[in-house]
Amino acid sequence: MVTDIEKLDGDLREVLSEERYSHSVCVMQMCEKLAKKYNANVEKAKLIGLMHDMAKELSKKEKLDYVKKNNIACNEIEKTVTGILHGKIAADMCKKKYGFDDEMCEAIAVHTTGKPNMTILQKILFIADKTDESRTYDGIVELRNLAFENIDKAIIKNLDSTLLINIDKGNLIFEESIKTRNYLLLSSEN
Ligand SMILES: [Fe+2]
Ligand SMILES: [Fe+2]
Repeated sequence: MVTDIEKLDGDLREVLSEERYSHSVCVMQMCEKLAKKYNANVEKAKLIGLMHDMAKELSKKEKLDYVKKNNIACNEIEKTVTGILHGKIAADMCKKKYGFDDEMCEAIAVHTTGKPNMTILQKILFIADKTDESRTYDGIVELRNLAFENIDKAIIKNLDSTLLINIDKGNLIFEESIKTRNYLLLSSEN
């Protein structure tokens, strides 16, 4: 597995705008802090934090071509809201290019919606992506603090607000987000 952060960082700068590159670095830093807090693998957390959005700036056509060429399964909603595919594509690239392991690639693949029964590493990337220092939306400080107190509750809170925003806008809803939310509600020991 390629673990040289400088090499990965160089590759990332080639494919991302300045703004998204700094978001990626901030997510890496948040992943590191959360991994220390939750006794997860710090090196793996940093690597996935840095690379999770590496496919984000591909065009719609490039994304659709990539999934077709690489036999990545996607449903009707993903084919319509193609932005969501950046996770699965980045996961595939990180596996093939850098040899990231299955748990890391799955974390990257599902970082936007989550999935039921995520490992702690996967939960860390999910919430680090929503609470990194580059984020400035209302309630961010509270959510960031909650991520360190109870990561499951922080994920539920983020999913709740994202679902409400998408419903309000009349957007399609990713079923995985609802499954993730229900799983966490059923499994959390509130
Ligand atoms: Fe993303
Ligand atoms: Fe991101």
